[in-house]
Amino acid sequence: MDVEKIISLCKRRGILFPNSEIYGTFAGFFDYGNYGSELKRNVENSWWKHFVNDRDDMVGIDGAIITHPEVWKASGHLESFNDPLVGCTKCKKKYRADHLVEMELKISVDGLSVDHLKELIEKHKIKCPDDKGELKFLQPFNLMFKTSVGAESGNVAYLRPETAQVIFTNFKIIQHSSRKKLPFGIAQMGKAFRNEISPRNFVFRTREFSQMEIEYFIHPKKIDKCEFLTNEHLKYELNVLTSANQEKKKSHQKMKIKDLLSEKIIKTPWHAFWVVESMKWFENIGIKKENLRIREHLKTELSHYSSETWDVEYNFPWGWKELEGIANRTDFDLKQHMKFSKTDLNYFDEETKEKVIPCVIEPSFGLERTIMTILLDSYSEEKEDDEVKVKLKLDSSISPVKVAIFPLMKKDGLSENAKEVFELLKKEFVCEYDEAGSIGKRYARADEIGTPLAITVDYDTLKDKTVTVRDRDTTKQARVKIDKLFEFLEKKIS
Ligand code: GAP
Repeated sequence: MDVEKIISLCKRRGILFPNSEIYGTFAGFFDYGNYGSELKRNVENSWWKHFVNDRDDMVGIDGAIITHPEVWKASGHLESFNDPLVGCTKCKKKYRADHLVEMELKISVDGLSVDHLKELIEKHKIKCPDDKGELKFLQPFNLMFKTSVGAESGNVAYLRPETAQVIFTNFKIIQHSSRKKLPFGIAQMGKAFRNEISPRNFVFRTREFSQMEIEYFIHPKKIDKCEFLTNEHLKYELNVLTSANQEKKKSHQKMKIKDLLSEKIIKTPWHAFWVVESMKWFENIGIKKENLRIREHLKTELSHYSSETWDVEYNFPWGWKELEGIANRTDFDLKQHMKFSKTDLNYFDEETKEKVIPCVIEPSFGLERTIMTILLDSYSEEKEDDEVKVKLKLDSSISPVKVAIFPLMKKDGLSENAKEVFELLKKEFVCEYDEAGSIGKRYARADEIGTPLAITVDYDTLKDKTVTVRDRDTTKQARVKIDKLFEFLEKKIS
């Protein structure tokens, strides 16, 4: 799949495009347009329904983007949230060392240490891509964006690089206000910011993006028992790349969850549970299962807070890359915040009358990466009379517009009738009225943004109060009475 086609469609149809284009764009920042903002909201709503509203062990929060700077000391981000940096000794340009090695040697660098990267740069005599100058390793680069708060100078604060920390700092308040008992989760979606050295691949790596995160809190003595893990979860089969197979340079293989657990490849049933729940949601929103796999982090690549991480990866045009990270954060974050804030964040177990620090499994999704994979998997082209027509075969639940409404002609009262249909339906469905150009052009415009159904008001409508409803994917048309449209559309769209 040529990603340029997606980029071009996204701009042409107001889905997603580089920020500040009139000033020459601003690298790493993107804006959602008229259709994109609807698409984004639909993906967010689908995620929130699947992971929060449909469960009684989950609640949501919406925290601040800028938090007390001590949070980032406690979380370890000030010290450890760094990328390896190299600089050209001639032109002084700076590059992310792992990306440069990956680009130059066309190899995966997941999990390579800084020493290993140094070795590869020296061995393969990698030079500055711009002017072939010598490269030298610089101080690791901290990815957090700094800002200052208030009129006094020196009050440094940071834009959050992950939404997770606000969940940990509010753990006690939310546990009390929600009256949830372990195990339970707190979810949050919202903006995160990382001063990426080299933002690239459209919205894959940006400096401002949205995350959808869950911190799922489990009694430390019950980490080996997940009451939600059903037979359906255990039988679930997926593409798996273990750390052992990565070391042997093998590729992924199909495995069942029950085997991953019995062979202790995935260490806890809770981790396995959240892997399957994530996969199910990705499938629900139209991402093809064959384009997904889970990959275990190598020991050398684990984040400072994680004892075990599995990434859900997607087969992007530039290779298999992370779409979601599912980490076992242990009790690291709560312990750190207890230490730094000197606040008791223990959970009181009423059964055993013990104070415990819960363990945490964290499924962490990137919204923009999810949207990009949806677009990649739903994009299709059809040739019609030497013309290439683009269709986004989006799942109707996330399509920005659900129903397009056209009068066959602008005359003879057809427009007025079509507008009446639009007025009737718009309260229930996101609809779009379109009377410009030929009917073929209007179908094509609706197909391009993934509108699942298109209604045409024609001369028969004037006689018998029926309209045609065209299905985007089959292009089949059904004749439906206007007073039966609601039920018909509801069935089709749900
Ligand atoms: N709280 C854990 C955490 O933040 P992460 O793997 O660094 O983990 C989670 O990020 C998800 O956020 C990733 O799987 C990815 O989808 C998204 N993400 C991370 N950095 C990103 C970036 N620079 N641009 C777009 N999405 C990003």
